[in-house]
Amino acid sequence: MRISPLTPTIGADIFDVDLSVSSQDLPLSDISQAFLRYHVLFFRNQQMTPEDIVRFARLFGPVGAYPFAEPLPNHPEVIAIIKEPEQRTVFGGIWHTDSTYLATPSLASVLYAVEVPDLGGDTLFANMHAAWEHLDPELQNKLRHLKAFHSSVKNRSVLRADHLQGGSMKGETSPELQASHPLVRQHPDSGRLSLYISPAHTVRIEGLPEAESDELLGSLYQHALQDDFKCRFRWSPGTLAIWDNRCTLHYPVNDYHGQRREMYRVTIEGSAPVSKMD
Ligand code: SIN
Repeated sequence: MRISPLTPTIGADIFDVDLSVSSQDLPLSDISQAFLRYHVLFFRNQQMTPEDIVRFARLFGPVGAYPFAEPLPNHPEVIAIIKEPEQRTVFGGIWHTDSTYLATPSLASVLYAVEVPDLGGDTLFANMHAAWEHLDPELQNKLRHLKAFHSSVKNRSVLRADHLQGGSMKGETSPELQASHPLVRQHPDSGRLSLYISPAHTVRIEGLPEAESDELLGSLYQHALQDDFKCRFRWSPGTLAIWDNRCTLHYPVNDYHGQRREMYRVTIEGSAPVSKMD
């Protein structure tokens, strides 16, 4: 297996691995180490069925259903994310990390490119360890013990629109899902701290007046999304990506109107975020 980092901070292309082989034949320990170090991995030129994608995702943990979409027929763990040529909005089109509105948000997500535009439709990723580590120590001390409230209702019409399999709008009618999490979370595998915010779903910092919370969140988003902490990935059909939802944000770029994009996504279940483990 060959690793080619995308930027100094986040993302790596992984070459010379065929993910469709049985798991005993995969260099799992190398893949896990690379995942921990680069936070988002890209495997190009894969030929994967929905079953293959789920099998690969299961190597990282139990696979869960996404609460707002109908899955693919016969594949309850796989959702199709589609933008048709005539559609103007895009699924997930605000910076976010997946499912922070759950008490146990996702550990990681796997996305497989079925059909992509000739040009455009890239995805951006940002490293939230870097965001935390580059904060002023005084601000770090202020944030260390704070919690934030997350809701599935914030931005839901923009985030989900009608890009899911069968035009599902389950999100529009389902009850609000909400959770409270530490603003600074510790990665259970690396021990590193990260800023745990999600512009799409974080509603407020608990215990602060609304205006102060809005201002602080605004400045944290601005800090966290600076170019030094980001990478941009250009898809090709057959590329599979896996990203760590515990320490990254992502954003699909909506710049390919008139062209079609279809992706399969599988969500890996996680555990409740903790601020600092003993
Ligand atoms: C997502 O937010 O899960 C979708 C990302 C993408 O379509 O690039």
